[in-house]
Amino acid sequence: MRQVLVLNGPNLGRLGAREPEVYGTASFRELADLCRAEGHKLGLNVDVRQTDDEAELVHWVHEAADTRTPVVLNPAAFTHYSYALRDALAQRTAPLIEVHLTNPAARAAFRAMSVVAAVADGTIAGFGLMSYQLALRAIAEMGSVQ
Ligand code: DQA
Repeated sequence: MRQVLVLNGPNLGRLGAREPEVYGTASFRELADLCRAEGHKLGLNVDVRQTDDEAELVHWVHEAADTRTPVVLNPAAFTHYSYALRDALAQRTAPLIEVHLTNPAARAAFRAMSVVAAVADGTIAGFGLMSYQLALRAIAEMGSVQ
């Protein structure tokens, strides 16, 4: 089965408790379960991870580059300012889809800018948990060759 990494940045581990009126009531565990189930349907082996630590996220992106593993990434707040993450993602060797639960373009002005969007194949935002399902479908369709 093809391996896919679903990587999540800061505060996403607190889904369910975190501003439920903005991010919904599903927990991170439920999100992870949904991603694994969607992957199973698509023939993908999905490894879901979350960290609040920029260095750890950068190291996971290096791991994906070294192993030619496709990535679905919700960079959370790092989206808007982490040049370190952007530079790590630029080294990718397989598909990369940026995802967001909310639509950052419709929120506070500082969220409109993504420093990672330019190095992704595409961005899926605003569909809640379904953003991740749609991204996994895109990965399944795309194949692993760049
Ligand atoms: C988010 C949007 C970001 O602006 C925010 O910092 C997050 C979550 C989303 O999934 O909607 O932490 O990436």
